[in-house]
Amino acid sequence: MSTSKPSSSSQTWSQRFESALHPAIAQFNASIGFDIELIEYDITGSQAHARMLAHTGIISADEGEQLVKGLEQVRQEYRAGAFTPGVESEDVHFAVERRLTELVGDVGKKLHTARSRNDQVGTDTRLYLRDHIQQIQARLRTFQQVLLTQAEQHVETLIPGYTHLQRAQPLSLAHHLLAYVDMAQRDWERLGDVFKRVNISPLGCGALAGTTFPIDRHYTAQLLGFEQVYSNSLDGVSDRDFAIEFLAAASVIMVHLSRLSEEIILWASEEFRFIQLRDSCSTGSSIMPQKKNPDVPELVRGKTGRVFGHLQGMLVLMKGLPLAYNKDLQEDKEALFDAVRTVESCLEAMTILMEEGLEFQPMRLTQAVAEDFSNATDVADYLAAKGVPFREAYNLVGKVVKASLAAGKLLKDLSIDEWKALHPAFEADIYEAIAPQTVVAARNSYGGTGFEQVKAALAQARSRLASEKLGS
Ligand code: ARG
Repeated sequence: MSTSKPSSSSQTWSQRFESALHPAIAQFNASIGFDIELIEYDITGSQAHARMLAHTGIISADEGEQLVKGLEQVRQEYRAGAFTPGVESEDVHFAVERRLTELVGDVGKKLHTARSRNDQVGTDTRLYLRDHIQQIQARLRTFQQVLLTQAEQHVETLIPGYTHLQRAQPLSLAHHLLAYVDMAQRDWERLGDVFKRVNISPLGCGALAGTTFPIDRHYTAQLLGFEQVYSNSLDGVSDRDFAIEFLAAASVIMVHLSRLSEEIILWASEEFRFIQLRDSCSTGSSIMPQKKNPDVPELVRGKTGRVFGHLQGMLVLMKGLPLAYNKDLQEDKEALFDAVRTVESCLEAMTILMEEGLEFQPMRLTQAVAEDFSNATDVADYLAAKGVPFREAYNLVGKVVKASLAAGKLLKDLSIDEWKALHPAFEADIYEAIAPQTVVAARNSYGGTGFEQVKAALAQARSRLASEKLGS
């Protein structure tokens, strides 16, 4: 029989183990390097578990009290920077239990009664995600407020609208910004939906099969604010659907931020000049003194890929796992933590950028919308309104555009005689009908860019955000 004494890392395990883990394997196996992020949630979860053990008489009330207090002490030590567990603890769950036992003595060893790290880690991860989903939702709200404030200042500022990145029809700039407010609204709602499936307690599922102790899962769920409990213990410990769903919702948020980033990068270019970046949110080049670079939106666009990667990684992580817990699941955490950090920091940066990092250039925008053929549809609509079948009008205007291009003219430069020669239905009011402001104002269909529609949409978005502030 081997006489080698188990080292601290193998003392974690039962007496079944005789020798220590290889140091490199101990390092490989450990998650403390990253799951320390869960420590506050782990402590909160353990306190609820301890209260339940006392409540059900599995331990005495006094023991329960000692555990809850001891856990609180671990929390305070951690916050004060006095508790910094290393790899010898393997993971945050062992680290907390060990420190607790050092602090309160043998009663600490009762904490893990009727529990497994499998239901414990699932509980911690859900508590963590619940918290961060709410933080991300709050950041989305601030982002929407900032976009709305910008939009309110730019109802009558026009901006070229594009399809295929070709000038299409002019827009109210507010309408363009409001599109992102609506996208963020769906993001917010999507997170709320994910929250429902995060907010289910696996605590008490045990290792996989439940427990022989008379626990009360609804009691811990209630203490921890979980809406429901998993009804199947195997599913409870092995489900990571909620993580996949969160990463999917996070990915969609990043798609939206990345699309806005791309627009800002284009708008800031010499070719567009629709915005000017302020010094607080742009950087220079180390070699080209004239440059002002849009690093913030470029980074957001770049970081989007990491979040997509985490979603893909999580799907692949799950697809071959037999029930129930497998150590593979330890890999869920870094993906979640990084996605949360990335989304939170990108939302913060984009909010600052939209609030104070850029200045729209109304002169340049006015000039841009006046110097193209984006009012061509309106000429066709003008004729159609006078009874010319739309397709006929469309073909005629196509010819006009071609001839104007050849003559180096814009539609507004054609003389009334030229218009009349094209079609007798044209009258002097054609000039007014194709002026950019008229063209935009006229798209007054519900959800369109017409100023009346935009003002209504702004008011609606404002009241939606305001009513929520009041808690309704
Ligand atoms: N550190 C582990 C994880 O993050 C905790 C659960 C360990 N469970 C087990 N049966 N080894 O997944």
